[in-house]
Amino acid sequence: MATQPVELTVHSSQPYNAEPPRTALADRDLTPLDAFYHRNHAPERPRIDPATWTLRVDGMVERPATFSLGGLRERLREHTEVVTLQCAGNRRAGLIEVADLPGETPWGPGATGTARWAGVRLADVLREVGVEPGASDVVLAGADLPEETDGAPYEVSIPLEKALAPEVLLAWSMDDAPLPEAHGAPVRVVVPGWIGARSVKWLERVTVADAPSRGHYQDVAYRLLPADASPAPGRGVPLGPIAVNADVLSPADGAEVAAGPVRVSGYALAGGERTVVRVDVSTDGGATWRQADLEPQAGRWSWRLWHTELDLPAGTTRVTARAWDSAAGVQPADPAELWNPKGYVNNAWAHVTLHASARDDG
Ligand code: MTE
Repeated sequence: MATQPVELTVHSSQPYNAEPPRTALADRDLTPLDAFYHRNHAPERPRIDPATWTLRVDGMVERPATFSLGGLRERLREHTEVVTLQCAGNRRAGLIEVADLPGETPWGPGATGTARWAGVRLADVLREVGVEPGASDVVLAGADLPEETDGAPYEVSIPLEKALAPEVLLAWSMDDAPLPEAHGAPVRVVVPGWIGARSVKWLERVTVADAPSRGHYQDVAYRLLPADASPAPGRGVPLGPIAVNADVLSPADGAEVAAGPVRVSGYALAGGERTVVRVDVSTDGGATWRQADLEPQAGRWSWRLWHTELDLPAGTTRVTARAWDSAAGVQPADPAELWNPKGYVNNAWAHVTLHASARDDG
């Protein structure tokens, strides 16, 4: 059966920021490439010739080195992980309904997606160069030049401990094909369980350091602030592991369905080292809940698909879902509790409204 191309909602074209509708993500372990969201900060996407691309690894290392793509492939073993990426700004539109967030991209629920990534372990690259004692962070820099950084490339950092974890990849392949330019070719970082901002695209430099990056996207943006604070260097908490989140992906919000049994499905994602242990679904605004069926995960670092069957009466029903993680973390009810000045981490309960028409039994 021929599938229709997915129409993305384009929030801006320079930088290119676009997301799929929820239904394009539904009931799939892997997100189709044309339904994978795009989150960029620079107006221009870098175009890098893989034949001449190099990766510089320096800082607090015993043997600073420069690797070519061929060199990485020859020296180090390839590893594959199925990983869900999720932007910290995913579902920001729900926070904007609480209070406006001028200048911030109004992401709906589609700034997330799952792919099979292959490449080398960052840990193996760091082993090649030898990390010096006293190092605590690994700075990751791309080739793109955002307008907010005064000519400096996109740069963030992750703690050395995470950089040495076996799941963190320098990926050159996405879903068994060469990594597309739009998603960071020739090589991007994939940091499973952590906000998408740390998975640096168009990677060019890895610097081992004794402090986190002072770059804009580590030191000012992607930090959680109290509602009454304003962003400034070093203020607030840098976002790392993803907060437990879930969504109803099918039927679509506002869908017309026949009254009676209706299959409802979605995803749930627990960040960091946590896993999804339970998904609850409610049709009465959270007064009572039933547990959805959880499907097996495609990989340790991928989202967990869930489904349930609801017996819908004729009329309008608001379906609500929330997930629990293995640390007994649960999604909060109300985005008003979560509102923050940069609009990150909206993991409030998810809702869709369904309109059921009475069956014509005549
Ligand atoms: N890497 C670079 N070099 N430049 C960027 O703007 N955006 C980050 C991250 N890596 C970004 C980047 C953010 S915020 C997210 S959510 C993911 O890439 C999005 O990856 P995608 O566009 O492949 O979906």
